[in-house]
Amino acid sequence: MTIKEVQEKILKLKKENDICILAHSYQAREITEIADFTGDSYALSKQASQVSNKNILMCGVHFMAETVKLISPEKRVLISHPEAGCAMAEMMDKALIGQVKQLYPNHKVVVYINSTAELKTICDVCVTSSSAVKIVGSMPEKDILFIPDCNLGAYVQEQLPEKNIKTLSGGCPTHAIVEATDVIKAKEEHPNALLLVHPECQPSVFHLADFVGSTSAIMEYAKKSSAKEFIIGTEISITEHLQFDCPEKTFYNLSYAMICKNMKMTTLMDVYNCVNGNGGKEIILDDQTINQARKCIDEMIKLGG
Ligand code: 13P
Ligand code: SF4
Repeated sequence: MTIKEVQEKILKLKKENDICILAHSYQAREITEIADFTGDSYALSKQASQVSNKNILMCGVHFMAETVKLISPEKRVLISHPEAGCAMAEMMDKALIGQVKQLYPNHKVVVYINSTAELKTICDVCVTSSSAVKIVGSMPEKDILFIPDCNLGAYVQEQLPEKNIKTLSGGCPTHAIVEATDVIKAKEEHPNALLLVHPECQPSVFHLADFVGSTSAIMEYAKKSSAKEFIIGTEISITEHLQFDCPEKTFYNLSYAMICKNMKMTTLMDVYNCVNGNGGKEIILDDQTINQARKCIDEMIKLGG
């Protein structure tokens, strides 16, 4: 079958089987093309909660499908590839953070949405990369334990010097892999390009950027900007999507090493198998986990996230 034929079959099968397809923006182009919604993980889970479909297929990684389930526990939620985890989400578990919390009993625990549902059960407030500064800034507490991404934590600390933010050594290998030397090289090669980076990058990298923001914010900025060339400092699929969306502009990868192998596990044929009832994995969470993990997401919503 050709890509086009498979895509047509997926579109037909998803309708017949009452499935809404979500694709994170780091998914390949042929997958985002057949998705009902694309975007970042929290935006996708909100969209999933508003559709009437009983079945949701999350093309992305495990924590993203869990977030969909937390927001819509009544729906059947599938992850597109059973082994697509997230290296950062798996760095810190409930047992470890339970111990760390004892060392910092007066700190409020802020957890990045890129974390497991189990870890969220013992955290106070959830944040996304686009809402982190706003949410932490609107918390009355000064002392914060920010997990699991120390780079995003450092970024929030710089924006909010009045806070006392403690981080642990954890983060996204896809974003943390780039160094200031990669930036200098890319800027030398493309002196007229603006540098747009994700706050999961190291501070030495985001300090050199013209714009720092979430995946969706980077895409929006590039689309609205009057500049013609951009160096993109996030997962390399974003560069490709932007090139399709803005053919009159030119986009360069900050580094070809910025590729998330978990995000790339899902193939178009995996999606076909899922909508055909022969693939993926259903996300099962017990009621207690759902109720406890929901609390930090509800707190984020209360604080304007
Ligand atoms: P956002 O899409 O929320 O910016 O997150 C980036 C990321 O690493 C997703 O896995
Ligand atoms: Fe996890 Fe990083 Fe991959 Fe996102 S890009 S899924 S944070 S490893």
